Amino acid sequence: MVMKVADFVEKYAVERKNTDSVKWDGMKSGFGSNDLLPMWVADTEFKAPEAVMYALKKRIEHGAYGYSLTPDSYYEAYFEWQQERYGTELHKEWIRFGAGVVQSISALVNILTLQDDAVMVLQPVYHPFMHVIENNSRRLVVSNLKNNQGHYEMDFEDIRTKIKKEHVKLLINCSPHNPVGRVWKKEELEQLLEICREEQVLVISDEIHHDLIVGNNKFISALSIKDGFYRDNIIMLDAASKTFNLAALQNSHVVIPNPQIRERYDEYIEKLCLPSGNLIGKVAAEAAYREGADWLNGMIELIEYNFNYLKRQFAKEVPEIKITELEGTYLAWVDMRKVVDSKKLHQLIQHKAKIAVDYGEIFGTAGNGFIRLNLATTPENVEKAVNAILMALKN
Ligand SMILES: Cc1ncc(COP(=O)(O)O)c(C=O)c1O
Repeated sequence: MVMKVADFVEKYAVERKNTDSVKWDGMKSGFGSNDLLPMWVADTEFKAPEAVMYALKKRIEHGAYGYSLTPDSYYEAYFEWQQERYGTELHKEWIRFGAGVVQSISALVNILTLQDDAVMVLQPVYHPFMHVIENNSRRLVVSNLKNNQGHYEMDFEDIRTKIKKEHVKLLINCSPHNPVGRVWKKEELEQLLEICREEQVLVISDEIHHDLIVGNNKFISALSIKDGFYRDNIIMLDAASKTFNLAALQNSHVVIPNPQIRERYDEYIEKLCLPSGNLIGKVAAEAAYREGADWLNGMIELIEYNFNYLKRQFAKEVPEIKITELEGTYLAWVDMRKVVDSKKLHQLIQHKAKIAVDYGEIFGTAGNGFIRLNLATTPENVEKAVNAILMALKN
């Protein structure tokens, strides 16, 4: 293990079993046993940056946790992070707070569409997008990404054709993309947003993974494409939660540049009395934005290290397993179709290798025969998972 990665692991890795972790202690309902190596839920086995823990302790010690405002310092820290790292320009009046990104997607689907309206997703994609659309009695319209030897691209022709044919009103895009690990290029986002503008389709851009960018890939927010030309058509969602392992602290951003949409959003939130973020979550996020950059660099090196290990081992031992190149997120997308019949995949992974993974089919039928492995864990766990899969294939 390279030194920097070893240092990161030494400093931040933490035992999560028996800490009421969904990932470690919640496998029984979905996988039948908690006695598996969890490579599923998208959170990590690492403590947040010291600055986050310090800020939380300080706030906790104050002792009074009454109704709280969002301080100006929070906006400053968030805006500086976005501007300096990605060149994303934000304004205070655009920002609303939600507990989680999925909660906000559900609210927005209700606000921006009516029952039976068509909502498009690009599959395979993060499964709660589909659940939210269907649970709210909207019509799910799918455009499959094109899988070109493991490299995924948007199928613009199909997207436009289906938008017209199905009268799509809203598109939910995942950027960077879970599970296929793409960091969409400026030109790709521009083409997608142009189609949506021309066809009058609103866009929810879920950018929760935007800090987790590997290699030379560059993240650009949908809000920045063509200097903000499309932003009245976009609602951008993000949070510090995925980046810094803060998911249980329930604080995320809903960024709405369009004043008319903002008004409708505010009315809806008021009607349902929905939560708008959380004091502790805000304290943690502000500290992370101010002082978490070095920690994040360490995290990204660890992800790259784990991904390279996975790729190398599979290439050496079973080259028929195809790994999609990781551009962003910490989720490896692994094509098992050449080595195991999809009907036997669960048996192999769960019962023989004893690993809990997210199976590709939950992301849409285009994911059949794939598994998604969460690499934001120790190299030791990744090594165990890889060896267990290889052993299971040999037997
Ligand atoms: C693309 C994407 N959006 C949203 C979420 C979940 O966000 P939240 O916990 O804030 O609802 C995840 C978690 O894996 C995700 O991958």
